[in-house]
Amino acid sequence: MIGLHGKRILLGVTGSIAAYKAAEWVRELVKEEAVVTVAMTEAAERFVAPLTFAALSGQAVHRDMFDAAPDRVMAHINLSREADVILVAPATAQTLARLAHGMADNLLATVVLAARIPVVICPAMNSFMLNHPATQDNIRRLESFGYHIVQPGSGELACGEIGDGRLADWDAARETLLSLFQPDDLRGKTILITAGPTREALDPARFLSNRSSGRMGFALARTARRRGAEVVLVAGPVHLPDPPGMEVIRVTTAEEMRQTVAGRARAADIVVKSAAVADFRPSAYAAHKIKKTQQDLRLELVRNPDILAELGANRSPGQILVGFAAESRDHAGEGQRKLRGKNVDLMIVNDILGARTGFDVETNQVSLIDCRGTTTLPLLSKEETADRIWDAVVRLRDGRSGDGE
Ligand code: PMT
Repeated sequence: MIGLHGKRILLGVTGSIAAYKAAEWVRELVKEEAVVTVAMTEAAERFVAPLTFAALSGQAVHRDMFDAAPDRVMAHINLSREADVILVAPATAQTLARLAHGMADNLLATVVLAARIPVVICPAMNSFMLNHPATQDNIRRLESFGYHIVQPGSGELACGEIGDGRLADWDAARETLLSLFQPDDLRGKTILITAGPTREALDPARFLSNRSSGRMGFALARTARRRGAEVVLVAGPVHLPDPPGMEVIRVTTAEEMRQTVAGRARAADIVVKSAAVADFRPSAYAAHKIKKTQQDLRLELVRNPDILAELGANRSPGQILVGFAAESRDHAGEGQRKLRGKNVDLMIVNDILGARTGFDVETNQVSLIDCRGTTTLPLLSKEETADRIWDAVVRLRDGRSGDGE
């Protein structure tokens, strides 16, 4: 199962104004059925009361290194033994310095020093403090220990300045947490993914498009990133936010998508075309809104370029090409035809007539067709489907290196 369900998160909260956001993060984690234990520094308690975290997490909050209660005497050792990951958020400049220099002068710093589990750190502070060479040095040192830093965001800070230093969004922290529980089998690979529909304008008010929401492509992008890939996501017009940790290029028309993909494909080890590219566009664009002066209106359409077929014809050596086929009948036959016709390694066929498959739903049910045969997956969330697709891509890649290619 994808997600943080059942994962044991030890959340270390330190003394930043962003501590109130950590309370929101606890809610998100609990909603996902993660088990959250909170350890707070003394400074953090000046911003948010421990009771808030206790109420939200449903667990007692750890604060004191010298707590003599029988179940807490060895808290600095036991807390990390009982967790899957330590998340320090927000992490102040002071805490970064402490952790970077192995100081064990409060409970949280001692727990991190004694830990043998992954540590994720989310700095938050004033931008001058963040950009000071001392803090930057400390961040580099923490990275060299193998700790995962979730870079702070940019914007208006509590001190009134505008700059870097805002606590990262929950989405970015969550993606980092999720990546810790995934295989790293796409690390070192650059993956180009297309998602969503394209829009072909008729006049300033109207366009031709389709029902693609972008969910399938965005799920592929997020899951590939979690598995270590460098991802470039080319998205048609969709309402989804940019997934963190990747380059996202927004396009509108098939021609724009074609040019963007052509510019990026050569550097990609793997290209996945999950976008629903419009096959046709109006032969002419009306500069002014078309008026309803006549009873019928005949539209003349011209073929758009087939981006996937072009990629198949010009692929770089060793590149893996994955296509999608949105079908309403003869799924297997159409999948086979497109696999060969577009010269791709793997074709993912989905049924667009199913109530829970294909366009604009959270789930999908696909068949994976390659030269060796067909594998049909059960109905899964789009993220789970995406992960199964990456499993198949990894098998293809490993099969090739086994063949000495
Ligand atoms: O976005 P969602 O709401 O999550 O829905 C997901 C999806 C149904 C859009 C997705 O799973 C999917 O099936 N995408 C491909 C849709 C499609 O265009 O299928 P096709 O059979 O028409 O095209 C076959 C392949 O050729 C696709 O990889 C497509 O990207 C590519 N193609 C098609 C036409 C064209 N002019 N250029 C292309 O590159």
